[in-house]
Amino acid sequence: EPKPLSDTLGRGLVDLRISVTDRCNFRCQYCMPKEVFGPDFAFLPHEDLLTFEEITRLASVFARAGVKKLRVTGGEPLLRRDLEQLIAMLAGIEGIEDIALTTNGSLLTPKRAKQLKDAGLHRVTVSLDSLRDEVFMAMNDVRFPVSKVLSAINAAQLAGLSPVKINMVVKRGVNDEDVIEMAKHFRGTGHIIRFIEYMDVGNSNGWRMNDVVSASEILEKIHQRWPLHAIAPRRPGEVATRYLYDDGQGEIGVIASVTRAFCGSCTRARLSPEGQLFTCLFSGHGHDFRERLRRGESDEQLYDFITGIWRSRNDRYSELRTEATGRRKKVEMSHIGG
Ligand code: GTP
Ligand code: 5AD
Ligand code: SF4
Ligand code: SF4
Repeated sequence: EPKPLSDTLGRGLVDLRISVTDRCNFRCQYCMPKEVFGPDFAFLPHEDLLTFEEITRLASVFARAGVKKLRVTGGEPLLRRDLEQLIAMLAGIEGIEDIALTTNGSLLTPKRAKQLKDAGLHRVTVSLDSLRDEVFMAMNDVRFPVSKVLSAINAAQLAGLSPVKINMVVKRGVNDEDVIEMAKHFRGTGHIIRFIEYMDVGNSNGWRMNDVVSASEILEKIHQRWPLHAIAPRRPGEVATRYLYDDGQGEIGVIASVTRAFCGSCTRARLSPEGQLFTCLFSGHGHDFRERLRRGESDEQLYDFITGIWRSRNDRYSELRTEATGRRKKVEMSHIGG
């Protein structure tokens, strides 16, 4: 056995987040604001996307380099045709223990959920920022109703893609009033809601520190109503800090990427739809794998490229975040799926 791969800060390579499309049918203001991602925005042409065969080949080389967990994201990953085929291919890779999908739920029908489950998907995370249509519609900016996302969550649960996680990005003055309602709605359902601090990803969302509601503020609010206690992470390096309700009504999480950065244990790599590898969510540029794949490089060569990149990795953006965030070039969240 070779010695485990580790970066310059001693972090392993355990998770690979695979973005399968840069497109989305939502225009969440904090992610793909309409002013930037308008009708003239140039999304990737289909031939630029990695094929399912290319993604699977790369993922298996990553698995050899230590990756155990795959997360399929976008954009909106369910916009990619026949995604279940990709899931089935990924599920066949030796060494992969967990395959999850992050989706906005808009295309997650009961039928699709079952197909994904049958293909080998383990679980899904569905984004939902409010239970009030006027708030949610303003946030997704395409007038998508809450009820359909709730149906998607049900569909996922019924298909056995569970526990279903719900992601709520909390933005001050926009949906911070909805935290308690969201907690209340999902208490006792077996779903795990995670409250996410609004982040300065990409260069489009006009982020300001004043818009961030801290995880401790969110927790305090919920704790006053339904007392909570912290529990240990399921595995090392998890982004969410976990809590249980004292009264046994289930689990919640907070993702404090702004106020309590977790770079120290970050074992995540990100693959963009066109085959660039990003070693941080806030990277300005990626490493091109597509060209190497299409040039006919061997698995051995790809493996060496991966390990070389990882050994020199020193990213810890969230720990260093400064007021200069707006001026630095960063990849868009919708491109690499968070
Ligand atoms: P599980 O723990 O496997 O359920 O998945 P996850 O929480 O990593 O995945 P998800 O896609 O639901 O991410 C939740 C939120 O955490 C999103 O807002 C992500 O952008 C954010 N996030 C995930 N990984 C990182 C990371 O490495 N750095 C930062 N700063 N934020 C991250
Ligand atoms: N800050 C925090 N989370 C974000 N997401 C998208 N943009 C941001 C942002 N600026 C969330 C989505 C999704 C997850 C993958 O990332 O809501 O749930
Ligand atoms: Fe919203 Fe997710 Fe689409 Fe971004 S990728 S616009 S967060 S639904
Ligand atoms: Fe990892 Fe970069 Fe996020 Fe830090 S900011 S946790 S290094 S992806």
